[in-house]
Amino acid sequence: MTSKRSSVRLCCVFCALISGLLWLLITGGIYTTEAVAQEKADAAKPDVTKSEDGRYEFRKEHDPNGQGKFYMGRELAMVMSFHGAPWLERPEREEEERLSTLVAQLGLKPGMVVADVGAGSGVLSLMMAHEVGEKGKVLAIDIQQEMLDLLGDKIMNNKIKNVELVLGTEKSPKLKEASIDLALMVDVYHEFEYPYEMTLELAKALKPGGRIAFVEYRREDPQVPIKLVHKMTEAQVKKEITLPEFGLKWKETIDKLPRQHIVVFERPVMKP
Ligand SMILES: C[S@@+](CC[C@H](N)C(=O)[O-])C[C@H]1O[C@@H](n2cnc3c(N)ncnc32)[C@H](O)[C@@H]1O
Repeated sequence: MTSKRSSVRLCCVFCALISGLLWLLITGGIYTTEAVAQEKADAAKPDVTKSEDGRYEFRKEHDPNGQGKFYMGRELAMVMSFHGAPWLERPEREEEERLSTLVAQLGLKPGMVVADVGAGSGVLSLMMAHEVGEKGKVLAIDIQQEMLDLLGDKIMNNKIKNVELVLGTEKSPKLKEASIDLALMVDVYHEFEYPYEMTLELAKALKPGGRIAFVEYRREDPQVPIKLVHKMTEAQVKKEITLPEFGLKWKETIDKLPRQHIVVFERPVMKP
C-alpha cells in the first residue's frame, strides 16, 4: 500500500516537472519569437522618422544620454530623475555655478511674480522667494511630483508663504495668460520633451514686458564638464526661441557665470 502511494506521488512529481518544462519551452519560445519579431520590425523602420506634425525627428542613431528625439537639429536630453535631487543640492554648487550671482543678474524686485520652470527640489525657487518678498510670488513648476514634495517639505519647515507648487505636464507649465514677470529655467530647457509647446505656453504666460531666462551650460566651451546633450550654445537657444509665433525678442546674454550663460528674451510691450 505504502509503496503504491509513493509511486503515485513520484508519478505526480514527474508529471509536474514535465509540464513545467513544457510550459517553459512553449512560453520561452513565444517570448523569443516575439523578441525576434520586434527586432525585425525595428530593423525595418527607417533610420529617421518624424512626429505627425513634422516638428520632431526620431533618429535610430543618437547620443546614449539623449531621447533619440531631435528638435531644430538638437537632440533632446533625458529628463533628470528626482533620484538626482542630491546633485542639485550639493554644497559645491555655489562655487561651481555661482547661483547667488545668477539670481542677482535677474533684476528681481519685491512684488514680482516669477515662475521657476523645472524647479526640481527648489534651490532657485527659495532664493528668488527671498528677492520678491512677501508681496511677490514664486510659482515652482515641475513635472515630477517627487521633486515638488522635496520643496514642499522645505517651505513647510521654514514657514515660507510666497512659494506655490505647480505640477506641470510635458507640454504645459499650467500658467495663466499674461500672469508672470519672469520665467526662469536653470538647466532645464534642453531636457523638455516638447520644447516648442512649452515655449509657446511660456511666452503667452508672460506679462507684456515680461522676460524669460534660459540658463544653460555653455556648449561652446569643451572645458565645461557636462555631457554634450545637457549643454546648449547661445546660437541654438536664440534659433529656437526667436520663432515668430512666440513673439519673443532677444534682450541680452549674460556671461557672468563660470559654466553657464543666461540668455534672456522679452515679450515686447505693444504700442497703442
Ligand atoms: C536638472 S533639473 C534642474 C532643477 C532646478 N532648475 C535646479 O537648477 O536646481 C531639471 C528639472 O526639470 C524638470 N522638467 C523636465 N521637463 C519639464 C517640463 N516640461 N516642465 C516642467 N519641468 C520639467 C525635471 O523634472 C527636473 O526636475
